[in-house]
Amino acid sequence: MRKPILAGNWKMNKTRDEVIQFTLAVTNRLPDDVDCIVCAPAIYLRDLVKRSPSHLHIGAQNMHEKDFGAYTGEVSPIMLKDTGVEYVILGHSERREYFNETDEKINEKIKKALEVGLKPIVCVGEKLETREAGKTNELLESQITKAFTGVTIDDTANVVIAYEPIWAIGTGKSADAKTAEEACGFIRNVLGKVLSPKVASEIRILYGGSVKESNISEYMAERDVDGALVGGASLKPESFIELCEKTA
Ligand code: 13P
Repeated sequence: MRKPILAGNWKMNKTRDEVIQFTLAVTNRLPDDVDCIVCAPAIYLRDLVKRSPSHLHIGAQNMHEKDFGAYTGEVSPIMLKDTGVEYVILGHSERREYFNETDEKINEKIKKALEVGLKPIVCVGEKLETREAGKTNELLESQITKAFTGVTIDDTANVVIAYEPIWAIGTGKSADAKTAEEACGFIRNVLGKVLSPKVASEIRILYGGSVKESNISEYMAERDVDGALVGGASLKPESFIELCEKTA
């Protein structure tokens, strides 16, 4: 039985006051049978870990692949672990596109996150032109295979995958549930080959891209979709609570 996940990706949003208000507003209002996660800007992580109700899990949105060093402006995995966060988003399409993150770099980050005890939420997904060219599966297979090169099966209990088609992110044009299911099912098959069939059947795969309160139930009805990674609609506490309830 795969426990559902509702993960909010706040991206570069919120002031500290808003973060604190959020934690107060969701306290005692999140379902127990869902892993409810917020992935926040690094500067707010300590506040969130200290102030959040115990059943709200906290994640970062990125990390460097090295423990320490001369990397001005970067946040190390050891520092994240120190703040008490549990999850870290890796390979988000905005990082791939605006910060030139390659599959190889993302692979290094996944291995490092697992080494220090962080749970990676690994993002994959295609651009519109890739889908239109009929090459979505080829791309997803390549992204997953490269992401998990050298990752041992023992490590993978803590991995979460997010299928986020780039054309659906922040556009209001969500993938329909059938398209999301096809991609998540395909990813599960690839994980079966790259890792093991047992791991593939246990790993949680999320859909992300214009998920909101009005469409989340459609995704949750699908066999291979175990939850959602939500951007814009996760920012307001009332929406976040409703999304979590509907993920159950
Ligand atoms: P939206 O939900 O705003 O489309 O963002 C999706 C996303 O990128 C989550 O990581």
